[in-house]
Amino acid sequence: MDIKKLISQMTLEEKAGLCSGLDFWHTKPVERLGVPASMVSDGPHGLRKQDTEGDHLGINDSIKAVCFPAACATAASFDVDMIRAMGEAIGDSCQHEGLSVVLGPAVNIKRSPLCGRNFEYFSEDPYLAGSMSAAYINGVQSKDVGTSIKHFAANSQEHRRMSSSSDADERTLREIYFPAFEMSVKQAQPWTVMCSYNRVNGTYASENKWLLTDVLRGEWGFEGYVMSDWGATADRVKGILAGLDLEMPASGGANDRKIVEAVKSGALDEAEVDKCVERILNIVYRFVEHAKPDTPWDKEAQHEMSARIAAQCMVLLKNEGGILPLNRDDAVAFIGEFAEKPRYQGGGSSHINSFKTTGAVEAATGLKVTYAQGYSAASDTATDEQIAEAVAAAKAAKVAVVFAGLPDAYESEGYDRRHMRLPDCQNKLIAAVAAANPNTAVVLHNGSPVEMPWIDSVKGVLEAYLGGQAVGLATVRVLYGDENPSGHLAETFPKRLEDNPSFLYYGGEGNVTEYREGVFVGYRYYDKKAMDVLFPFGHGLSYTTFEYSDLRLSEKAIDDTQEVTATVTVKNTGERAGKAVVQLYVAPPEADVIRPVRELKGFVKVDLQPGEAKTVSFTLNKRSFAYWNAEIHDWFVVSGDYAVQVGASSRDLPLCEKVTVTGTARIPRHYDMNSIFMDILADPRAAAVVKPLIDKAFAMFAPNPEEQTQAAAEAINDEMGAAMINYMPLRNALGFSAGMVTEEQILALLDQING
Ligand code: BGC
Repeated sequence: MDIKKLISQMTLEEKAGLCSGLDFWHTKPVERLGVPASMVSDGPHGLRKQDTEGDHLGINDSIKAVCFPAACATAASFDVDMIRAMGEAIGDSCQHEGLSVVLGPAVNIKRSPLCGRNFEYFSEDPYLAGSMSAAYINGVQSKDVGTSIKHFAANSQEHRRMSSSSDADERTLREIYFPAFEMSVKQAQPWTVMCSYNRVNGTYASENKWLLTDVLRGEWGFEGYVMSDWGATADRVKGILAGLDLEMPASGGANDRKIVEAVKSGALDEAEVDKCVERILNIVYRFVEHAKPDTPWDKEAQHEMSARIAAQCMVLLKNEGGILPLNRDDAVAFIGEFAEKPRYQGGGSSHINSFKTTGAVEAATGLKVTYAQGYSAASDTATDEQIAEAVAAAKAAKVAVVFAGLPDAYESEGYDRRHMRLPDCQNKLIAAVAAANPNTAVVLHNGSPVEMPWIDSVKGVLEAYLGGQAVGLATVRVLYGDENPSGHLAETFPKRLEDNPSFLYYGGEGNVTEYREGVFVGYRYYDKKAMDVLFPFGHGLSYTTFEYSDLRLSEKAIDDTQEVTATVTVKNTGERAGKAVVQLYVAPPEADVIRPVRELKGFVKVDLQPGEAKTVSFTLNKRSFAYWNAEIHDWFVVSGDYAVQVGASSRDLPLCEKVTVTGTARIPRHYDMNSIFMDILADPRAAAVVKPLIDKAFAMFAPNPEEQTQAAAEAINDEMGAAMINYMPLRNALGFSAGMVTEEQILALLDQING
């Protein structure tokens, strides 16, 4: 299709009309010219295709579909191949249903455990979030169906989500809140991007040119169209100028008219509207020209696939004395309503109308399993009878497994959690069951960390997250060892909410939320503070054991235009087949820049038979070592020795090798009378010029004894002398040199070093 030609035949009104939706889910057609409408739909862990009454809050019904595990779970798989395959399955379903774009993945960073939508997001770590996101996008788009990576950007809270401004410094945005988007654009070129509701540093994302055009398109090379989150458009004309192509859902024509008026009044160049229309139609036709309505959608097969995925995502957090896997011959009590009716997805726009669900009780048919309800999730209560019944069931069994988690009302799109606790009734139930049977394990269904006041009294904890409609099947397979758990935490579980780095500022004041913890999000903070956590980022146990060895780097020293390859061997040293998640972190050298202790820069999931060993490799490049330097507005590598650390979690890194990296970029410096000697001396070129002056001017502080007076030698030791000089501005060379240095001399010197 010759899109440019098509646009040249359109009236201004038609073009303006194309810049907003027809209804909740369609782009507008232009019947006169044969331009079709195209349909987008929520997901992203399934389809929420609404045929009739539309809404963006998960209120009205959508077609029967397959609910795969939510992002909180899939991230824990650390398995890019798996999430790519899930994306392919969703792409097929979209083709079957004629959906051009699935609205996801959602990649916002988990700044606080409280964010109501954490269950939809991948991680507190941008590299992990970006890797999972890019793989999902590549999977969906391999089926000629688009994605809409969302919510761009810095949308890490639900509180006041449509008005709040996420105020973060440049470095924090670049290092923490942008990379998942950046990696996805560079590695997977999503067909569309959805801008977020919130403002970023005061400007709505939907009218933020820096965000939507300069960074997204100019720097990262995004080629598709940007749509607004549903209702995120404030000033439509500013939006066009910023690069917001499509307003969703629609404004009843009001904003289309504003676009027309702005063009007519000369406030908006029609060429800007053309650009938006071209980007939208490119994608509309990309789908239309590759539509495959005959694609089958085998929901039963996807149900089974969803179970296999869920099993790969579960994180075995604790397994004292090998309480898990369970023995098929043992009597086991499943306790807690979620055993029968699992909580397997969150509320809001991602809510899927599952064609069926399988709970653990059903999946355990044929096993020696009894069931006691324990509590009622809907009313958030556990009666004395329910607890007594649960205790009796626990006593009668060899092992008690309590299914706990967050009820629907606790976490959802639209609002944040108020605390990090499970319902009191569930904590009470777990304590009672654990007191009745020392062999108690807990299965958790939640989208974000919870406090575990009972952790020391239970032997096992299996974090099942919101594992999709087949989660019960997966849970039973993992509990009984048919599947070996291999998930690792994509987020830290702090001991208490108060430990979280955003605790003091999360939610903000009025419409301003300051991201004051900066880059110290999640483990970047806990590690810097050397703080005890409940379970660290990257943690996850297995029914087998792994040994890491032979970490080797291809180079001892590189400059930042070069790459270094790290290879490492991982061996299954246990009795069962299992999957290891090999994690690689880079720790920067000591420098003036305040940085996290280490950051995840590579991971790979490795499938190993008992006794089997495999060697895996990682490529590290400039971005693996760089931080964002706000002076030069670019990535910058500090020269020095970087530690490459490899292991099974952020706090279990048995292997370490050093690589010396030389940064090739220079930060331009300008010196004046107020520049301090320390900074001048750190710059070799300037230091060579200024050193003789220092020796002359500061004889009295100099470490050289012949040049010191007796009194000065007694009062000032070498270190102090050096420090005194270091922190002094150049201008002090005048006053402290007893006339030996003149102003003219200093000015001449400044000319020389600035020249
Ligand atoms: C959500 C988006 C969603 C859209 C459409 C909004 O409320 O923030 O994630 O895709 O609705 O349902």
